[in-house]
Amino acid sequence: MNREYTFSFGGNLSSVRIRKHIPSLDDIISFYGSAPGNVLFVCDTHTRSIARQILGEKDAPLCEIQSGEAAKNWASVETILKAAKDAALGRDGLFVGVGGGVVSDMTGFAASIYMRGAGLCLVSTSLLGMVDAAVGGKTGFDLFGMKNFAGTFYPAPLVYMPVSSLTSLPEREWKSGMAEIIKTATLDTSDEQERFWSLLAALSRDTAEQDILVECIARSVQLKGRVVEADPKETGNFRALLNLGHTFGHALESSIGLGQITHGEAVAWGMARSCDLGLALGITPQDRREKILALLSAFGYETKTPHPLMRDTEAFMQALRNDKKKKAGSLRFIVPARTGAVLVSGEQAEPRVLARIIGGYSDCL
Ligand SMILES: NC(=O)c1ccc[n+]([C@@H]2O[C@H](COP(=O)([O-])OP(=O)(O)OC[C@H]3O[C@@H](n4cnc5c(N)ncnc54)[C@H](O)[C@@H]3O)[C@@H](O)[C@H]2O)c1
Repeated sequence: MNREYTFSFGGNLSSVRIRKHIPSLDDIISFYGSAPGNVLFVCDTHTRSIARQILGEKDAPLCEIQSGEAAKNWASVETILKAAKDAALGRDGLFVGVGGGVVSDMTGFAASIYMRGAGLCLVSTSLLGMVDAAVGGKTGFDLFGMKNFAGTFYPAPLVYMPVSSLTSLPEREWKSGMAEIIKTATLDTSDEQERFWSLLAALSRDTAEQDILVECIARSVQLKGRVVEADPKETGNFRALLNLGHTFGHALESSIGLGQITHGEAVAWGMARSCDLGLALGITPQDRREKILALLSAFGYETKTPHPLMRDTEAFMQALRNDKKKKAGSLRFIVPARTGAVLVSGEQAEPRVLARIIGGYSDCL
């Protein structure tokens, strides 16, 4: 079951270790050669017990922040920095973030600015964290009402993904990570893409199928790692492919009100709309659209349009126009192709076509 991948993100090596069980403090310390007194653990209210298990009999300062996106703010970052200062961490100190994407993004950010950059290890405990947030080096927190408005690129040299920690993950969070795995499988252009697809079709939350889950996490980690290696700071268009489903998904989230649906549900619905757009533009073959929609439906995601919670399609279109992933003022969409996916500019996706797709005419396309 153990897997290990080493990536080079802009020249910084990052080793990702997928394990059945959580690592011990010794496992972590032996990698960095830090003294135990120079380590700060960061967790949230739901992952404290996992951090405690890592510590075992040993002791190290533990900084707990509130769980959830609402706590992904400067106040939490300051709490982490203050805990490091109170623990007298030196510049050679090590921050160990134990949690999902919120903890890993903020711990990474705090480590990146603490004394101009301290050590960082991530122990990712959510499915979304494993397949996405903990890989690639983006850190950050929400500011001025905007998601991930402030942040840095700071890859963790060591990332653990203890799959057994997922057993306590709430169903809703499970579903959030699952959408990202389906997205990754859609982007896969390797010879193994059919196998990835069939693994997904066989995947359920049943622990008896942990091997399949590990395989899906491993494939997602590899694909994201490879994409980020090719475009570590998202300067080109390649890393943008990872945003498949996100432009439509984010617009749905913000137009119906944040928190109404999970990020995964939004991304899944967004992937369905990306298929519609790709079909309308002659890029996504009909059979591929059907295959993707069938898998999304099999996992219980809403794929129909308008989304049942969407009361006002104009609010959605406005949210779409405000998308922060715009480049040079133009919207960008990622749409599935025969294999993998391609980037489509806003000029190609005319408002008339978008309105038809969102308004519920996708079945006539
Ligand atoms: N840096 C990146 O490249 C990147 C990529 C994708 C997402 N993100 C960020 O990741 C965040 C979302 O990540 P997330 O979905 O993991 O959210 P999260 O960190 O809020 O975790 C979701 C919930 O699950 C709980 N949880 C985590 N692990 C658990 C476990 N093992 N058992 C029980 N509960 C557990 C958390 O406390 C939280 O309540 C967003 O802020 C997003 O911006 C970052």
